Amino acid sequence: MSGGKKKKECIPRCEFKKIFNINNINDHLAELSAVFKQDGIVCISLEGKLDQRKVVGDMVQQIFGYLPYSEEYLLKLRSPDGSVLNIRNPDDKEAIITELLRVPMTPENVNELNKAYPPHRQFGGPCVVQSFHNEDANEMRQDEDINNAAEALLGTRFLWCPINRCFVRPPKTGTHTLLHWDWDPRTIESEDNQELQGKVCVTEGTFVCVLGSHTPEFLEKFCALYEPLYQGRKPGVAKYGLDPNKDPMRLFEEQRAYIVPACCLVFWTNRLLHGHAIVGRDERMQIGFYQGYQRSISAQQRMECQESYLNGTVPRLYPSGDNVCFYPRKFLNFPDHFKSVAKKLSAEARAELVTTRFTKAGKEVVDVRPWGWPKDHCFAPFPFTEKGKRIVGIEPWEGFREPDAPPSDNGGIAQAAGHDQLAAKIRVVDAANGGMAQARASKKRPLGDSESVHDGEVQMPARQDQLAPGSGIRVRDSGPATRK
Ligand SMILES: [Fe+2]
Repeated sequence: MSGGKKKKECIPRCEFKKIFNINNINDHLAELSAVFKQDGIVCISLEGKLDQRKVVGDMVQQIFGYLPYSEEYLLKLRSPDGSVLNIRNPDDKEAIITELLRVPMTPENVNELNKAYPPHRQFGGPCVVQSFHNEDANEMRQDEDINNAAEALLGTRFLWCPINRCFVRPPKTGTHTLLHWDWDPRTIESEDNQELQGKVCVTEGTFVCVLGSHTPEFLEKFCALYEPLYQGRKPGVAKYGLDPNKDPMRLFEEQRAYIVPACCLVFWTNRLLHGHAIVGRDERMQIGFYQGYQRSISAQQRMECQESYLNGTVPRLYPSGDNVCFYPRKFLNFPDHFKSVAKKLSAEARAELVTTRFTKAGKEVVDVRPWGWPKDHCFAPFPFTEKGKRIVGIEPWEGFREPDAPPSDNGGIAQAAGHDQLAAKIRVVDAANGGMAQARASKKRPLGDSESVHDGEVQMPARQDQLAPGSGIRVRDSGPATRK
């Protein structure tokens, strides 16, 4: 469809008919549920719970300030008086926040941001470990009022808020053809497997969706019309995307970009067809984090949550089941991308991270290992409340039977034993990953390793002591951050 691209570039903007307020949400839970049932999406203002400048400052400092880059490639913005603002200088923090929130950002600062961006710039989704461990995001995950809203929408008190990443979208980022479901719409059958997807927009953002695409009637019609056009797709595979050239219901024309005001949370059902809008050249930076809820967690998932939260690691999977990949997959086909990453590294980091791999054609090319926390950074687990630990999956809910817990007359003891076995399993996987890390440290990857590494199966450092240190990084501490 030749006209499809034009239409996608200017998705009509809309406003939400109603924005709920988190401060009185407990008095409006019935209305919240009714709007969610009708539209498949709700917007809630987090007024008073988030300090925009603090979140933007901390998030950007953590993601960009910890990169193992040489001075030349570290984020430096320019203030209107011409002075250079350095991401590693706490004295520049407030001025950097001001420049990031400026609308529009100066072209020079946009260029600097793009130059300093870690892999996944085009998608605006940094997958460095710091992106998954933001303290404001953790605070929102365990927030009582937000949890009450999620409980009402999902109809269960056994919630699980999976770990997810931040997003930092500079102007002119985003991709066109991303109208999709994160779950295969053909497998969404009943209320029981409904999940809540969500994101918190710390600066004003957008959420693209096709309203009404979550109803059983819509899904039935969709499956009948699109199944013949999308043959060969295995049922149940994460991320079901649509092709604008195969769109008999003209869903690409139906989609709308809803404006999400700053410091608002949107929840949408996993049945809702949704997408992304490109951030325009003169639009503000979009900054925030993903925050969804599911109604059950397996013992295996819980062990993985514990691992991530307690040791500060990257999760293996996104809530949708997609692999978390440090580098975009296209990097594998275009080795020059790795050369560009290698060029940005400090001399010390280059010595530790740059290696080579062999392509399928047998050619030796540059490769760069993923990195974790800086060598001199001591990760401290976030101090979740007792209930918060259950919500994020660190502890089990009392009275909730995890689907993969071993059957027994004495559930508690059997579950505990099962968890021990799982813990042992994870330790074995860790050991295997450690072995892989050692193999890489020999400067040559074993043949055939790169596919699985870059598919995200084993590419993320599994534990603090296995992280390739971002050597030479010195982030001057600006003192303990305050939490609201
Ligand atoms: Fe999605």
